[in-house]
Amino acid sequence: ANGLLSDTLGRPLHDLRISVTDRCNFRCVYCMPKEVFDKDYRFLPHSSLLSFEEITRIARLFIAHGVKKIRLTGGEPLLRKNIEHLIEMLAALRTIDGEPLDLTLTTNGSLLARKARSLKDAGLQRVTVSLDALDDAVFQRMNDVDFPVSAVLEGIEAAHQAGLGPIKINMVVKGGMNDQEIVPMARHFKDTPFIVRFIEYMDVGSSNGWKMDEVVPSAEVVRRISAEMPLVPADPNYIGETAERWRHAGGGGEIGVISSVTQAFCSDCSRARLSTEGKVYTCLFANHGHDLRALLREGRSDEEISAAISHLWQLRGDRYSELRTASTDGLGKQERKVEMSYIGG
Ligand code: GTP
Ligand code: 5AD
Ligand code: SF4
Ligand code: SF4
Repeated sequence: ANGLLSDTLGRPLHDLRISVTDRCNFRCVYCMPKEVFDKDYRFLPHSSLLSFEEITRIARLFIAHGVKKIRLTGGEPLLRKNIEHLIEMLAALRTIDGEPLDLTLTTNGSLLARKARSLKDAGLQRVTVSLDALDDAVFQRMNDVDFPVSAVLEGIEAAHQAGLGPIKINMVVKGGMNDQEIVPMARHFKDTPFIVRFIEYMDVGSSNGWKMDEVVPSAEVVRRISAEMPLVPADPNYIGETAERWRHAGGGGEIGVISSVTQAFCSDCSRARLSTEGKVYTCLFANHGHDLRALLREGRSDEEISAAISHLWQLRGDRYSELRTASTDGLGKQERKVEMSYIGG
């Protein structure tokens, strides 16, 4: 028997997203609002973080169960000290087919100009950069730490020069805040190798005060862009892809829309998330994680940890976004959900 897994809805396990820090140097209003993540906020102490050896061991066991793609997230993953070393360790792993992993990282871009080269040299394949506006005033209202657009654009360019492509640019659209930047972003990145993806603002965590009327539906995003630059639909790259792809008619590259609010994609969701302190979450909206760090630090064997992974995946039935769509307004408001900066986007 091979180690491949299937959950209660028949979904395989393909994708492991690893959060390497719960800290960030931005305070994006939709993710780490300043009122909550202030100077008194208690981030995790260093001793509770998984070490690079622990992360690599867990990754290896997930890979034996079919994981082909690993994404490092945070918080801001480039804030984790010596992240290049972890990347080297993960880049040395091979999938069950003997192939290298699809090894990538989601970053706010603030440290990318400085680190692109060393990340590439360590074995990272590509990066996804968050950028919520091209206008400085709008971007600074989103990141809430006065970080300038130009520094992120320099990071993107450095990543491109280093060969960390294809580079995707993620823009979370919050209605009334940055939605006027949708068309300028699409225009700026047209005729470049960069793929902008417009993300519906989600009700993740318990801090951002999410309201349905601040969500700009992806259909509206596509309508606004195609009014100025015609778009044609493109096929998915793989089953369970988060983004729906669109191509500029007549060439000019592609854009994507990620519609987890208006068109949930749970039915093909093959993503597991490993938190900074070693808990596995089988959904972005789960309020409970499975503690693998405890097993590791109790000295359990690979076989025991591997069995725990099989068990948690085989019991998985999460489909939060589909249920939310069915009930239209913030389901799960009753229960405290885990923060995105803790389990990673
Ligand atoms: P690619 O392999 O490059 O296509 O990456 P990806 O789209 O899987 O990952 P990325 O981190 O770029 O995801 C973009 C955004 O989509 C995230 O920041 C989230 O906002 C959203 N997202 C990703 N995965 C999920 C998911 O499993 N559920 C929901 N609801 N949203 C998700
Ligand atoms: N809604 C949608 N995406 C979010 N992210 C963080 N918070 C939210 C939210 N409330 C995602 C964005 C960002 C990445 C780091 O996390 O894609 O680019
Ligand atoms: Fe930091 Fe990314 Fe969250 Fe913004 S969205 S606060 S950059 S982790
Ligand atoms: Fe997957 Fe949960 Fe997102 Fe649905 S809501 S796509 S199950 S992470």
